[in-house]
Amino acid sequence: MHVFIAGANGQIGQHLLREMAESDHEARALIRHPDQGPELQQLGATETVLGDLEQDCSEAMKGCDVVIFTAGSGPHTGPDKTIDVDQDGAVRLMDTARAMGIKRFIMVSSMRAEEPDKGPEKLRHYLWAKHNADEHLKASGLNYTIVRPGQLTNDEGTGKVLLREKLDAFGKIPRQDVARVLLAVLDSDTADNRVFDVVSGERPVSEALAEL
Ligand SMILES: NC(=O)c1ccc[n+]([C@@H]2O[C@H](COP(=O)([O-])OP(=O)(O)OC[C@H]3O[C@@H](n4cnc5c(N)ncnc54)[C@H](OP(=O)(O)O)[C@@H]3O)[C@@H](O)[C@H]2O)c1
Repeated sequence: MHVFIAGANGQIGQHLLREMAESDHEARALIRHPDQGPELQQLGATETVLGDLEQDCSEAMKGCDVVIFTAGSGPHTGPDKTIDVDQDGAVRLMDTARAMGIKRFIMVSSMRAEEPDKGPEKLRHYLWAKHNADEHLKASGLNYTIVRPGQLTNDEGTGKVLLREKLDAFGKIPRQDVARVLLAVLDSDTADNRVFDVVSGERPVSEALAEL
């Protein structure tokens, strides 16, 4: 499949490119600066395209079958940018995908996005942005998968996860394992039109996904 990756230069995005290099998929990496291109191609991007989620990205998405959204304004920006990128940027990309006939959209959301007001106060604007984007995706008519990781770490991945529609206990997960989950979702239809939480666990990623 031709996969459009928003957030390809990010930490999960770069792990995903490495994982995808071993797959049959073509990874088109959205970047904001031309100098990000060579390194991402080295990692595994089939091609890089310039664009900004705060603008129209339709030109950059031409010919793709699937979108993976793993972008985010990050912890150092204010709430305005969180709305602009995590919410409105995601929504714009979904609407563009649908208008272009791209049928599948895989979203990196966050645990607790289901009930933002139950999250820590300082994260509520972020959780609401994720929540609103997820709700838009669910109603979009796109074939969606919403992946809701717990707290991300830079530990080496174990390839083993706990994956459920709704987990009661918050947990952590290495970014590398989130990337593995995204690739497994891409290669399966088990998670079509599904939402799930994921943290580190005991089950190999593909088995955990098959048991969803
Ligand atoms: N931190 C956590 O514990 C946690 C938990 C659950 C879920 N998440 C979610 O996980 C996802 C990825 O996390 P991460 O650690 O990989 O994030 P990251 O390293 O901060 O990467 C974010 C990426 O988004 C890109 N981006 C930001 N604004 C953009 C724009 N306007 N147009 C195009 N691209 C833009 C950045 O581009 P540049 O490289 O050009 O800056 C960067 O590549 C995010 O959606 C985040 O909300 C995080």
